Amino acid sequence: MPRLLQSAILTAREAVFLTDRQGLICFANPAFEKLSGYTVAEVLGKNPRLLGSGSQTKAFYRELWDRLANGKSWQGEFINRNKNGCLYTQDTSISPVFDPAGGISHFLAIATDISNEKNIEEQFFQGLKMDSLGRLAGGIAHDFNNLLTIINGYAEMLLADSSSSGRVRENVQCIYNAGEKAARLISHILAFSRKQIIYPRVLNVNGVVRELQQMIRGILGENIALQIDLAADAAPIRIDYAQLEQVIMNLVVNARDAMPSGGRLMLASVNFRMDDDFVGHHLGAKKGAYLRLEISDSGRGMALEVQQHIFEPFFTTKRLGEGSGLGLASVYGIVKQNRGYITFDSEPGQGTRFSIYFPKHEYLDLGEAGDKSGEKKPPFAGRTVLLIEADDTVRKLTEKVMLAAGFQVMESVNWPLALRLVKENRHPLDLLVADVLAPEMPGWAAAEKILAAHPEARVLLTSGYSEKRLLLPGKPGQNIHFICKPYNRQELLEKIGEILDKKG
Ligand SMILES: Nc1ncnc2c1ncn2[C@@H]1O[C@H](COP(=O)(O)OP(=O)(O)OP(=O)(O)O)[C@@H](O)[C@H]1O
Ligand SMILES: [Mg+2]
Repeated sequence: MPRLLQSAILTAREAVFLTDRQGLICFANPAFEKLSGYTVAEVLGKNPRLLGSGSQTKAFYRELWDRLANGKSWQGEFINRNKNGCLYTQDTSISPVFDPAGGISHFLAIATDISNEKNIEEQFFQGLKMDSLGRLAGGIAHDFNNLLTIINGYAEMLLADSSSSGRVRENVQCIYNAGEKAARLISHILAFSRKQIIYPRVLNVNGVVRELQQMIRGILGENIALQIDLAADAAPIRIDYAQLEQVIMNLVVNARDAMPSGGRLMLASVNFRMDDDFVGHHLGAKKGAYLRLEISDSGRGMALEVQQHIFEPFFTTKRLGEGSGLGLASVYGIVKQNRGYITFDSEPGQGTRFSIYFPKHEYLDLGEAGDKSGEKKPPFAGRTVLLIEADDTVRKLTEKVMLAAGFQVMESVNWPLALRLVKENRHPLDLLVADVLAPEMPGWAAAEKILAAHPEARVLLTSGYSEKRLLLPGKPGQNIHFICKPYNRQELLEKIGEILDKKG
C-alpha cells in the first residue's frame, strides 16, 4: 500500500477492515478497535460475525452475500455486540475488491457506529407520539371534566336533599363515589397532557423527600429497605408541591410493585450540569444546571418491549384492577410541564433507575452593585408568601422580587383561588400580600378563612389608594400592614423585613 494511502486509512474516523474471500479479517485499522473493543491482533483471521448479536436474520445475510458474490456492493445496518457485551448499531458498506484477472480477492468494509443517531431518532418519534397522545388525552379529559362536573354536582345536590328516601340516597351515593373516582382518573390524564392547573413555587427537594419519608416507608413495607442519599447543597427548583409529591409517590409505588419479594429502594438527589455531551445524546435536553432526583430499585426490571411503552397512558403490565397505567404517564407530563427531563435505565432481573432532572431555580441577583460574593443567601430564604394580585404585570413583577428575595411564592389572581391554594398546601404561611381592590372584594370571607387557617401569617395589603381612603376589611389588628402603590422593590422588601422581623 502506498504510504500516503496507508496513513490515511490508519487515521480515518471510520472503521476500515478487509477480509479475504472466505470472509476472514486480514486487515483492520485503529478505528475498528475503537468500534468493536477488540484489538487488531484479536480479530486477525477471525470472521466479522464475531461481532454478531443474533439480531440479524438468515435472510439478511443471504441477501448480503448474494450481492457481494455478484460483484456488487452492499450497504446496511447491523446490530452488533462489542467486546464489552454492549449492543450498538453499525452502519456498514461492503464492496468486493477485484484481482487483476477480474476475480474477487477481498472484501472491503467501512463501518461507523450510528447508535447515537438511532437513539436520537427514536427519541424524536417517541416525542411526537407522546405529544399527539397528550393532545388526544387532554381533549377527552377536558370534555369529560365538564360532564363530570354536572354529574357530581347533581349527585351532591340529591345527597343534600333531605326529602330523598334511604334507598335513593344509597344509589345516588354510588353515582357520586364513581364520579369522584372518575375525577381522580381525569386528573392523572390532565397531568399527562400537561393541562393541570399548577401553583409552582421554589422548593428544596430534600425537604420534600424528608417530609414524605414516613409515607414512603409505609408504602414499601417491611421487606424493602429504603436508602436516602441527598445532596447537602441540593439546588432549589421551582415546581408545584402536589405535583412533585405525585411524581415521587408514583415512582415509589412502581418500585415497590417491582419487588414483590423484597429488595432495596434508593432515593437520591444530585446536582447535575447538562453539558454538550449530555445534550448531544438526549433529544430536547437543554444545557444548564439541574437537580437530579434518582429513584432506583432492585426489582424485576423491564424488557425492551415494555420500556418502549411505559410513558404511554393506560399502558400497564399489571393485572386488571391492579394498575391503570397512568402512573408514569402523569410523571412524564408533570416533568415536561415543569421544564424537566426524565430518563431511565432498566434491565430484566437487574432493577430499574429513574432519573428526573429539574432546572435549578436561579434567584435574581439582589446583591448591591459590586457585591459579587457569589452564593449569598437571599434574605427571606425558606419563608412562604401568598400573593394575591389581579393585575398580571404587577403580580409577575412582585413575584419576581419576592422569589429573588428567597420566598417560596404562591400566587393567585383572586381571593377564592387563593383560598383553594391554601387548602391544598399544608405549609406554614409567613406572609400574605394582597391588593385590597382585587375585583371581587369584599372577598374578605375568603381572607378570613385563610387567616383562620394560618394565624401565624402576617398580612400586607397593597393598594393604589392611600390608607386613609381605604375601608380596611375585617378587623385591622396588629397583623395587618399596608403599603401604598406604586412601591419599588426596595420599599417592598424593607416593609416586609419590618413586618417579619417584628414576628421574630
Ligand atoms: N420500577 C419499575 N420496575 C419494573 N417495571 C416498571 C417499573 N415502573 C414501571 N414499570 C412498568 O411500567 C408499567 C407502567 O407503569 P405505570 O406506573 O404507568 O402504570 P401501572 O403502575 O401499571 O399502573 P398505575 O400506576 O396507574 O397504578 C408498569 O405496569 C410496569 O410494567
Ligand atoms: Mg404505577
